[in-house]
Amino acid sequence: MEKIKVNPDFMIYTDEEKESALNCLSNSDSSIFVGNTISTFEQKLANYLKAKYSLALPNCTLSIFATLQTLGISPNDEVIVPNLTHASSIYPIIMSGAKIKVCDFQANSYYYDIESIKKLITPKTKFLLACYLYGMPLNIQEIQDLCEKYGITLIEDVAQAFGTKINNKYAGTFGKVGCYSFNDTKMLRIGEGGAIVTNDKKIFEQIEHFRHVGEVFNSTKKSSVSSNTTYRDLLFNGLSNDGKGLNLRPSPLAFSTGVKRIDLIDDYINKRREKLQLYVEKLSNIKGINFISNFNISNISDYAPIALWIVLDNNFYDRNRVILGSINMGIPIGSFNYNTIIKNDYFKNYIINKSDTLEQSQYIRDNSIFLPLYESLSMEDIKKICDAFKYVIDNYKKNIDIFDESVYDEEISYFDGFYLMRRRRLKIKSKF
Ligand SMILES: Cc1ncc(COP(=O)(O)O)c(C=O)c1O
Repeated sequence: MEKIKVNPDFMIYTDEEKESALNCLSNSDSSIFVGNTISTFEQKLANYLKAKYSLALPNCTLSIFATLQTLGISPNDEVIVPNLTHASSIYPIIMSGAKIKVCDFQANSYYYDIESIKKLITPKTKFLLACYLYGMPLNIQEIQDLCEKYGITLIEDVAQAFGTKINNKYAGTFGKVGCYSFNDTKMLRIGEGGAIVTNDKKIFEQIEHFRHVGEVFNSTKKSSVSSNTTYRDLLFNGLSNDGKGLNLRPSPLAFSTGVKRIDLIDDYINKRREKLQLYVEKLSNIKGINFISNFNISNISDYAPIALWIVLDNNFYDRNRVILGSINMGIPIGSFNYNTIIKNDYFKNYIINKSDTLEQSQYIRDNSIFLPLYESLSMEDIKKICDAFKYVIDNYKKNIDIFDESVYDEEISYFDGFYLMRRRRLKIKSKF
């Protein structure tokens, strides 16, 4: 089979989004203080997610950091995190000086093993950070019940799951605060950006002050940038600080496209769902090729999928050989390009239960691969990818060029966090 040719992942901005960016510049709406791009986005985000309050921030990492800081994280605290998540979930905790405890998954799944979490809880456990992956739902209700029972504050890292639902409620609206990412690998993509949502007015106000270097008006106790402040207030009463803060103001220019895209985000999610459906039709019932457990295509309306998540049965396949064959067939393929938290050299220093063996999450880490759903792929492209992937699997045991690393000396040049592709498209000469 010939190597396939499909588009890499790139942002496609609509005319309306481009116009919105230009308007943002033309109207001098490039600062949160003068325009309404940010507040409009926040309003739309809260409405979409059916949350009371939302605040835009520069990215999700800082959204988690601002949340932990305003909720009073301290060096004595322990935070429970899943063993498999992006480093961005972990850095805000260790940068706050707290310690982490790492929990395992259920078998072949990324649902949290509730019993393993119970063993980690001590009087010092202050937060649990539930981190969604690839737009799939979590067993968040069980996690929430556990947190309530033990007085632990639940925070959701929803960077990878904007639009995902559990029992008709959006991921990110179960805990005290949900933290979102709008970077270029996510569902609602604006380049760089993040946000928090919460139903708690006090937390909302505290995070708002936090993002504006803690500034508060003496007279009104409102944030310095809220719309009902006046020059009189500023000049007569001045600003005060009554809490923690940093400058975490988002750029309206970044959000000027998002303010349009969020109106159409269900169309974007639905297109990815259609691609996911096609993959499932084409790639089901192949021995040793399994979808992540808890994934059920009949629940597709709950998923806001970033990619198709395949867990290879390691009795049949070596993941790296499948990746190599796929790259050489032109398939944009992804894997966890980071290890588990417990195996991370730096994070290890902050893990309390570092001697635990967390086998299930390690298995998922080591045997998962991802096939793409991004916008620049057509349904025809998905069919091509399925055919090429089946070719890789059908020929897995044969000694053909696509599995020969030495034949291809190019570097992988395209890497967006989820997918790998080689730069030049070599013609594969099959020996068969
Ligand atoms: C699970 C998870 N949390 C947090 C983040 C951080 O998002 P951002 O890049 O907006 O800081 C990411 C980004 O890849 C992520 O995957």
